[in-house]
This record gives sequence, C-alpha cells and structure tokens, in this order.
Amino acid sequence: MIGLQWGDEAKGKLVDLMTSQFDYVVRYQGGSNAGHTVVIGDQTYKLHHIPSGILNPGVMNIIAPGVVLNPATLLQEIEGLTARQIDVTENLRISDRAHVVFPWHLAEDRVTNAAAVAGESIGTTLRGIGPCYRDKYARSHAIRMGDLCRSGFRARIEEIVAAKQRALAGLGSTESLDVEAIYTEFSGYAERLQPLVTETTDLLLDALDAGKSLLFEGAQGALLDIDHGTFPFVTSSNSSGVGVCGGSGVPPCWIRRVLGVAKAYTTRVGGGPFPTELDDEVGQRIRDLGNEYGTTTGRARRCGWFDAVAVRYTTRLSGVSGLSIMMLDVLSQLPEVKICVAYQLDGKRIERFPSHVEDLRRVTPIYETLPGWETDVTQMRRMSELPSGARRYLDRVSELVRRPIDVVSVGPDRAQTIFADGAS
Ligand code: IMP
Repeated sequence: MIGLQWGDEAKGKLVDLMTSQFDYVVRYQGGSNAGHTVVIGDQTYKLHHIPSGILNPGVMNIIAPGVVLNPATLLQEIEGLTARQIDVTENLRISDRAHVVFPWHLAEDRVTNAAAVAGESIGTTLRGIGPCYRDKYARSHAIRMGDLCRSGFRARIEEIVAAKQRALAGLGSTESLDVEAIYTEFSGYAERLQPLVTETTDLLLDALDAGKSLLFEGAQGALLDIDHGTFPFVTSSNSSGVGVCGGSGVPPCWIRRVLGVAKAYTTRVGGGPFPTELDDEVGQRIRDLGNEYGTTTGRARRCGWFDAVAVRYTTRLSGVSGLSIMMLDVLSQLPEVKICVAYQLDGKRIERFPSHVEDLRRVTPIYETLPGWETDVTQMRRMSELPSGARRYLDRVSELVRRPIDVVSVGPDRAQTIFADGAS
C-alpha cells in the first residue's frame, strides 16, 4: 500500500482495515518520521514504527531492514499498546539489519535542517532520518539493531562519538555527546528489545514459500521518494512503490497488487514546491475540516486541490492497480471543488510531472472546476448512496489518473469506508 502524494494520506486506517485478510504486515522504509493514525471506536492509536496490523490479533508485524529505528520511540509505542492490553511479544518482529537512530543523528538533523537547500529549508521532522540513512550509505559510522548486543558495541560508540563530536562542532553545533550515557541508554534498549529482534528477510521469504500473504505498509508518500520525488524536498528513503523490494528483501515477482492511497485533496508538510497549494480561506477551511495537523510533529499541513498530474505520475511509478480516495467527507462542505488536470510551464500546457524542482516551482496549475455536493457523506456506505456531485468528482479523478477507484473513505472510523465492489 503506497501513498501517492506527499504523505499523510491516511494509509494507517486502510492497512488496519485490510490486515484481517493478511498473515503479515511489513514496514520496510522510513522510521519515526511516519505517523499512522488508526481509529477504532472511541480509541485512537498513533503508530510511528510499528505496522498498523498490530491492532489485529493473529497478524504478524515485521519491521524490515529498510527501516531506520529509534529504539526509545519504539519502546514508547510498545508501552502505549501494552497499556491498552495489546501485547506485541508474539506478533512483532524487528530486523537485526535495521539501522539505529542515535542522539548524534538527531543533533545533526537539528543543526542542518535550518539551512536552506535550493533556497528553502526542507523542514524535516527532526527525527534524525536523513543523518541515519546518510551513515547507512556511508557505512563507516552505522550501527544496526543486530550490533547492539554484540561485544565491541561500547568501542564503536566511543569511536563514532569522537568523530561525530568533531563533525557537529564543524557544523556550528555546541551539543555534546556523552559516551557513557549513550552506551548505558542503548544497552538498556537492546536488552528490552532483544526478544523481538531477529533475521526477517528469510523469515518473509519462508512465509511466502509457505503460501502466506503479506501486506507492505508504505510510509510517507511517493512524491517524497529520494530518487523519484521532488528532490531535494524529499525524505531519505524510497517511499514510492519501488522501495518495497529493497527495504523488505522480498523480490518483485511476489508483488501481486499495489493499492495507491490519495486524499481527495492534497497536503504537504515541510518545504518544497506544491503547485495546487491554497494560501487562502479555502485552504484554511480544508485544514480545519480535515484536522490537517501532523501526527508526528503537530505542524499545520499545507493544503490544496487534488493534483491529477502528480498522482498520475506516482500511480504509474508505483505500479498501482487501484486507488483509495481518502477524506472525501472533508470536501463535502465546499460549494465547488477543483482538480488540477495539467500544468502550464513557459507558455506550454504539460501533462507530465517535472523532474526538476525548479520547473515544478514555476508551473501554474490548470484547473477543472466541478460543483460541490454540500451533503454529509459520513454515514454513506455504498458508492450508489454518494451524491451525484461526489460521484462525478471521483469519476473524473479516476479518468485523469487512469485507474479505477476501489475504496473511498468518508470518515476516520473503520466503518466509514466504501468499497467499490460492495464488500464491507
Ligand atoms: P524527514 O523524513 O524527517 O527527513 O523529512 C523530510 C521531508 O519529508 C519533510 O518535508 C517532512 O515534512 C516530510 N515527511 C517525512 N515524513 C513524513 C510523513 O510521514 N508525512 C508527511 N511528510 C513527511
């Protein structure tokens, strides 16, 4: 399941809904920058690392090698679930290959985030994601979950802290890193998490050989993909569909179906171009109606109209077979709605998503305006019950993105979901 915009497409709700049909749910990229919200009755669960399948007993949840893991945040998530009688000991496993986010990654994120890249700050979540992935690819200063309990861990910390302290000073940071405190803290985490840490690549391949079904839960959205997104205003992992195999270790031949998830409008947090952004009262209205404030950082999300050029691009990139359109209820109070059907760039109409961020910054969206439906849709459970204006809107989205709409979400609860095939 892949987000097709800039993240926050409400994937957590869908994953939770669909997990009963799967044996495994796998997180394979990103880290605590993700915030997946699942609402069940009067309970709201906010998950950062743990796959949203954890709320369905009987489903095995895997944190795969491509995830960068902050053990303190993960333990908080586990404690939060345990306090609500959701035990993870039997159905959560963490790859020993997953890289660990350390205090120096957080410090580096803090000191570099303020700097402008391409004239604007990236506005990261400050969770140390970029610095941790940087160390993973550079290799010399990286530590994985499987290293935490091995001999030599203390010596590694000493060596890395010395280098990081110099690097931080070079960046103008005055933060100091305490070897003993970091060693004690992370040894404690290692001891507590050890029963859950294991080899997961073979585990998943064995599960597939045994005929088990797997659901891959993407974090962030495809437009934030490090290789194919709006670089440099992206996250540091492959958050589009292309990341599933690399992050999990499951080869492409096993991927049978890709569900793309998009909001009925668009949001973005952090810096970077956003062609359909609304800086006016309509944008504020969408923010208020959709409660568009970050799960992880609490930041107000930038809001705008649905961008069919962008979503058509990410749909193709991720190999999406069908769409889930989320938060349709949020648009229900607007007198008219717009869809961006193409861009204008240098006097020409273009229908492809530009590869360079400076071109994306310069495009002007070309809109189609449709009448709003101004009807509460939150209690509707079938496509046929939706007002004709809402159906027309969805049909146009499907036509422009060139994929069928399989699911429409009309509210945060599990029950507020419409399946095109009539399933419930
Ligand atoms: P980072 O992933 O913390 O390095 O942040 C890089 C960019 O990705 C920033 O613009 C963040 O706001 C954005 N980002 C990271 N994670 C999420 C997410 O889960 N939802 C939406 N945006 C995200």
